Parts: sequence; structure tokens; C-alpha cells
Amino acid sequence: TIPILESVASCRTWRLKAFDEKKSVGFVPTMGAFHEGHLSLVRRSLSENDLTVVSIFVNPGQFAPGEDFEKYPRMLSRDLEQLAGGQVSVGGVFRTTSAVFLPSVQEMHPSGITRDVASQKGTFVEVEGCSHQMEGAIRPTLYRAIATIVTKLFNVVQPTNVYLGQKDIQQALMIRQLCRDLLLADPDAKRVHIVRTVRDPIDGVALSSRNAYLSVDERSCAGTLYRALQAAETAWTRGGTKEKSISAAAAVVEQGKIEAASKGVEMKLEYVEMNDADSFEVLDGKLHKGSRSLGGTNPILLTGMLWVGKTRLVDNIVIGDS
Ligand code: PAJ
Repeated sequence: TIPILESVASCRTWRLKAFDEKKSVGFVPTMGAFHEGHLSLVRRSLSENDLTVVSIFVNPGQFAPGEDFEKYPRMLSRDLEQLAGGQVSVGGVFRTTSAVFLPSVQEMHPSGITRDVASQKGTFVEVEGCSHQMEGAIRPTLYRAIATIVTKLFNVVQPTNVYLGQKDIQQALMIRQLCRDLLLADPDAKRVHIVRTVRDPIDGVALSSRNAYLSVDERSCAGTLYRALQAAETAWTRGGTKEKSISAAAAVVEQGKIEAASKGVEMKLEYVEMNDADSFEVLDGKLHKGSRSLGGTNPILLTGMLWVGKTRLVDNIVIGDS
């Protein structure tokens, strides 16, 4: 069985030993309820580091009042079994997760935590730039809460390498910038690795712990978001403008809505956007393929958020990469 580190002190002791033994430590921060997406991050870390530590912490700060903190799936024993079963062979030697960090809310938030932003106490980390558009515009303190918890986790774990999913690209790019700005990693931020999204092989739905909230009928409509992003990509690569790309995505959703309605499922497209895949900056509305304002050679991201019933699904693709 994998050792469980339930306190900050025990995690620090574990880390000091790894420093002493000059072992590299890969870190996969999570909120549990594992699926193949999480496990792909763990496998990548196992293959690139001597030791791997996975944290499981459902961070109350990143759920707004009325959001799904209470009902967020918690399945610790299943998660631990999946980690124990996930081995990677490196040069003929099997590696498994070395430790699971399972801190308490009290220890992670010593000044207490309140969901009412106005009366919050304590210290927070704010990453300017990529925190306030897209998901951050809809949930204004989401990224502050994530940046804060991730900073605390990094302070305790002091990872050599960190593994994050492309699924939550805005979060991953923000954490990259956080590491750069607070000198938590190499200036070139090579130690923050963004791992490709794992999808359902049949309908391309990005795996997510929140998919568990979908009813069977809702789940059968969820593929609309990925199809919409692909339609936007096709419109773009055919030489369309940003505007044409986004309307191609919207058209797919309109079509999907008709089918969904026949199953009694409501869908609503919150946004489709085009962003610079490095800075996450929203790209100029007049942009078209080949336009000079594309600036540089950074890839372009297509991001989207779709409501399926009461569940919000987010997804993204890198143009030319899907
Ligand atoms: P959680 O939603 O549990 O996700 C943990 C990690 O798994 C994140 O880096 C996320 O991007 C990645 N992930 C989720 N679905 C994926 C998929 N289908 N393919 C590949 N990777 C996927 O993200 C969080 O937790 C929290 O915000 C956290 C960073 C732990 C801070 O609390």
C-alpha cells in the first residue's frame, strides 16, 4: 500500500528524505475522484521522476457558495486502489506512486476559510493576466483560490516537476505564470508540464470528475462541446476568420440543442473563444488565418464552455493538434 501523508509535517519530512537521497519528485495535485485523465498525469510523472507524490484535497475555496463543494465526488479508497494498481516500467524497474498527500482543511487554511469573499481572512495569491477572463469572468475568485492552494501545496511538496492537464488549460497556464513570477520554478517554467486531455474514445468528451453529475441522457449530449470546437477548428483551417470559427461552433450547438430537447435535456453555450496558447490572451476579433496580428508562432487555443442541464462542461483544443 502507498504511504499516506496526512499532515504538512509528515509531507515535509518525506520531502527532506527525498532531498537527502537526491531523488527527483514529480507532483500531481488533484481533488480526487480519479479517472483516466488523472491517471495519465500520474503515469507521466512516474516515468519522468524517481518519486511521485499525488495530493488529494477538495479545496473549499475554489467552490463558490451554492456550488458543488458538498456533492463533489469523494471516493478515497477507490482512488488509492487505482494509484496502487498504476505502475510504470522504467528500464525494467516498476515504479508506483510513492506517497499520497491528504492534508486537512484546517492545516491548509490556518486562518480559516469562508465562502463569503467579503469576509475572508488570510493570505491569497493573485495572478494577473489569465485569471479574469473566460472561467475567471464567470467565477471571479476561482483562480485566486486555485493559485493560493497550489502555492501552499508547492511550498510543502517542493516538487522537481509538476504535471497538470490541458483539460483545464487556463488553470495550467496560470500555474505556469505563478511559478515564473514567484520564482517557484525555472525561469523557463519547463518544470510545469501540461499533459494532453484524455477523452472518451467514442464521443470525444473530455473526462472530468464532474461528468458524474450528468444523467444518461445528458451524458449522451455532452459530445456537442468537442464537436463544436472541432467545427471551429475546421472553419479556421479552411481560412476563415475568428468570427466564422466561433459561429461554426455555435451552429453545432444549435443543432445539438434540437436533439437534446427531444431527450428533455437543455443546453446552453456560455462561450467559445480563441486564445493565445502561451499567454491565454483572448485573440483579436478581426483575426483570420494568415493575419499578421497573429504575432509570432504561438499555437492558438479554442476554448469553450457548455451548460448541459445544470452541469458546466469546459473543454479546449489546440488548433492543428487534435
Ligand atoms: P482536479 O479537477 O482533480 O484535476 C487534477 C488534474 O487533472 C488537473 O491538472 C486537471 O487538469 C487534470 N485533468 C482533469 N481531467 C483531465 C483529462 N480529461 N485529461 C487530462 N488531465 C485531466 O484541477 C484541480 O483538480 C484543482 O483545481 C487543483 C489543481 C488540484 C487545485 O485544487
